[in-house]
Amino acid sequence: MNKPIEDIIRQRISCRTYLEKPIEEHHRRLLHDFLESIHIGPLGTHARFTLVAATEGDQESLKRLGTYGFIKNPAGFIVGAVEEGPKNLEDYGYLLERAVLYATGLGLGTCWLGGTFTKSRFAKTISAAGTEKVPAVISTGYGASEDNIRGQLRRQAGAPRRYPAEQLFFDKSFGSVLQGPIEEKYSQILELVRRAPSASNKQPWRIIRNGDAWHFYLQRTAGYGKGSLKFILLRLADLQRVDMGIAMCHFELAAREFGLQGSWVVDEPKIDLPDDTEYTVSWMSM
Ligand SMILES: Cc1cc2nc3c(=O)[nH]c(=O)nc-3n(C[C@H](O)[C@H](O)[C@H](O)COP(=O)(O)O)c2cc1C
Repeated sequence: MNKPIEDIIRQRISCRTYLEKPIEEHHRRLLHDFLESIHIGPLGTHARFTLVAATEGDQESLKRLGTYGFIKNPAGFIVGAVEEGPKNLEDYGYLLERAVLYATGLGLGTCWLGGTFTKSRFAKTISAAGTEKVPAVISTGYGASEDNIRGQLRRQAGAPRRYPAEQLFFDKSFGSVLQGPIEEKYSQILELVRRAPSASNKQPWRIIRNGDAWHFYLQRTAGYGKGSLKFILLRLADLQRVDMGIAMCHFELAAREFGLQGSWVVDEPKIDLPDDTEYTVSWMSM
């Protein structure tokens, strides 16, 4: 990254209106090289990514593929393909968010788009094999000024439309708020997780700190995602697991920037869980 991760995360918002301008050659080259460098997620799944130019029919086909919102004049898309595997969607979210933050650092606007891409033209552009999935893509390009002005207002308002930290981050058990010196010490890192993008802004991630361990849980939104009618009919990927990978990316990059070194481990602790909540992974700090 060419800037502190804190600045990049605070700068990022979903950009849905772009200038009618192709991505400049040096930005395209840098982004291409970055995409070539990310292959394997922290939970072991392989994925591949590429940058493709937008074509005229894309706006129409995005709707059919189950995405929401209107994406105007994207210059291109970052498309990825991920192998099957137990934590493949988390790894996909983690890796593709690294690309989003890298693109943000270059001054590009981005927007995550979750849809049924696996059999679409997007999957063809990356020659996705039968064993690979394309759970989401990123639209990109230079943000139009109306989007920039909206973005500035949203940024000034802090992290708008986000749950307060007390509903997301806990001490030792669910419902027990992180406070005092511990909260102060880690508040910058957790704030950068709170700003992570998530499908329909559902923010399904919950984190419990216990000593040196930071346990990540997925709290599924009732009536949304896996099992909901829309997701079954459209055969959408389990996007809340992609959201979890995105939150892991923000946590890890922020933790490293603020000196909380560590690594990812899957080792579920014995903690009472609320309904619809499942364990994903832990960051073990050292
Ligand atoms: C996995 C995923 C899928 C998303 N799908 C869409 C989409 O189809 N259309 C859209 O306009 N935004 C989509 N978004 C963007 C979210 O709506 C956005 O991140 C959220 O509302 C928070 O706003 P912010 O990104 O500006 O902070 C998606 C985000 C994620 C993480």
